[in-house]
This record gives sequence, C-alpha cells and structure tokens, in this order.
Amino acid sequence: MKRVGILAGREVTFPEAIIESINTKGGGEVTAEMVKTAGVRLDEEKRYDVVIDRISHEVPYYRAMLKRFALEGTYIINNPFWWSADDKFFNFSLAAKIGVAIPKTVLLPQHSYIEDINSDSLRNLEFPIDWEAVVDYTGLPAFMKPFDGGGWKNVSKVESLEQLLYEYNQTGRLCMTLQEGIEYDQFVRCYCVGREKVLIMPYDPSKPYLSGEQYVPNPEYLVPELAKRVEHDVRTICTALGYDLNTVEFAIKDGVPYAIDFMNPAPDAELASVGEYNHRWIVDSMTDFIIDLLEKGFETPVYRWDQLLKGVEGKAAGSE
Ligand SMILES: Nc1ncnc2c1ncn2[C@@H]1O[C@H](COP(=O)(O)OP(=O)(O)OP(=O)(O)O)[C@@H](O)[C@H]1O
Ligand SMILES: [Mg+2]
Repeated sequence: MKRVGILAGREVTFPEAIIESINTKGGGEVTAEMVKTAGVRLDEEKRYDVVIDRISHEVPYYRAMLKRFALEGTYIINNPFWWSADDKFFNFSLAAKIGVAIPKTVLLPQHSYIEDINSDSLRNLEFPIDWEAVVDYTGLPAFMKPFDGGGWKNVSKVESLEQLLYEYNQTGRLCMTLQEGIEYDQFVRCYCVGREKVLIMPYDPSKPYLSGEQYVPNPEYLVPELAKRVEHDVRTICTALGYDLNTVEFAIKDGVPYAIDFMNPAPDAELASVGEYNHRWIVDSMTDFIIDLLEKGFETPVYRWDQLLKGVEGKAAGSE
C-alpha cells in the first residue's frame, strides 16, 4: 500500500477533495490522509511515499520536517529544497533568459535592517538609490512587490516618483522589487501540473476574492495562437523551476503574454474561490499525476547529498 500525506493550512475543500479522489482512484493500492505530526526524530522511518505540501511556506517546522522526509525517499510536492532557495526576482531573471516575456524589473536594496546592522555593515551598498534611473528603466506605473511573497501582501501600484518613495518607506526589512506595470488587455492565471498539464483560467484581479467574479471559465478567452504560446511559456517556466504544481499569471498586452507572477507552489484551489470547473480540474489532475508517479516510480530529484547515500541502508530511495 502506497501512502500519500497532505499538509494543509486553513483551506478545506482542496485537501478533502484530493484525499477522497486519491482514495477512490487509488483502487486499494494507494491511500491518502492528512499528515499528523508532533515532533520528528532524527532516525524517523519513512512514513509517506508522497506528501502534498500546501503550507510549509508559513510554518518553518513543516519545511524542516519535509526535508527530513525527503531524506527517506518521500516525494514532496513541491520540492522543499528548491522552494526554500527560490525567489521571485531570480524567477523573473531566469524566465527572461529562456524566452518568456517579463516586464522590466529591478531588485531593490532593503529599506531597513535588523538592529545589529549599521552603516558599517553595509559598505557594499551605494546610497542613496538613484530612483530616477530605476524609474527610467521600469517606467510608470510600476508595481512594487516583495521578492518573496503572496496573497497580494505588500504589493502596491505606484504612479509617480513621490508615491514610489512613500511606498518604499513603508517596506521595512522586506526585500522588494519594482516592476514595470503592464496595462493589460487580458489577464490569465494558469495551473500547471507535472510540468505538462496546463489549464488557462481567465482571471480578473480587479474583482474581490470570493466574489465569484474572479474566475469565469471560458475556453475561448484567448485566441488559439496566444493560448499556445501561454501554454508553452507555462511549461517552460515550470520545467525550469522544477515545480510539480504551480500557477503562472500573465498580463497580456498587444498580444504579448507577460509573466508577472509564477512562484506559487501552493496555489489557491478552494472551491469557493476558483469555482467548480477549475477546482475539479486541479483535484483530478493532481490525483492522476500522483497515481501515475506511484505506478511508474520516480527519480529522486537531484540533491547533491543523494549520491553519497547510494548503497547506504535507509537511503533516499525515490520509489526504488
Ligand atoms: N507587472 C504588473 N503589471 C500589471 N499588474 C501587476 C503587475 N504585477 C502585479 N500586478 C497586479 O497585482 C496583483 C498582485 O501581484 P502578484 O501576483 O505579483 O502578487 P502576489 O502576492 O504573488 O499575488 P498572488 O498571491 O495572487 O499570487 C496581480 O494579480 C496583478 O493584478
Ligand atoms: Mg499573483
């Protein structure tokens, strides 16, 4: 019997639905349940073949636990090592190099630092920032957003240099990026499962969360050629980043899909938010991906320590 564990936060419908779906489609060979944990021992044995991680970005204990699970050969969706290392600015830069359209983006030095840091600690930083040069590059309006964030937290749209400085002065210790604002004609959010299956969801960011108006399914929202490019870009990005589950957002202007957000390794999948069609798609696609993974076996993702464990008992084993 193969075991799948779910690690989830406040969301309800996605964990319930995926557990039910895996238990049904698993045909007695695969079982799924919520992970239970209250401390992890150094020598704890393997408990799960696969864990779907929806919340370790908010709970460092979970992240550390998942890395430990990986050492026993548990396949974690998504790879906790890469997720820990990843950030949105690296993502933008990488994606631009591999042919995806990315709005002009600048990584900004932080506004504030921990107490022990003073100006001597920051000798490498040129000060003050040449804001005019920054804005000459990105243009206005621009979006200031954390280099690692989600849920629209600390995201602001700035229309002028004054507004930019005002917003920057509120950012404290956060590391921010400033990005060219795309005055888009269309906007889509795309699920990607297994770096292959893509669902393009028309998405209206101007509508309130849970209004039922953010996601209105329309398979013909993008003309075929544009849909093809979007799907291709989504696969390129998710393959490059190695995420098995992700969403990629595009602001589309004059026929060009600009990828503006694609570090979403625990994407919203709640029924009340994404709607029946999208919710069903993501539950079914994830179920099929996991069952396929367990049937065919999987390569352990490349960890540098993995080579050293070859032949050691209790090694990081993948599916054998
Ligand atoms: N470069 C941009 N051009 C136009 N709009 C943008 C741009 N960047 C961000 N936005 C707007 O701001 C919203 C939030 O930005 P972003 O998606 O980067 O933040 P987030 O915190 O990762 O959000 P989420 O949790 O939805 O993924 C986007 O949905 C979009 O409406
Ligand atoms: Mg977003």
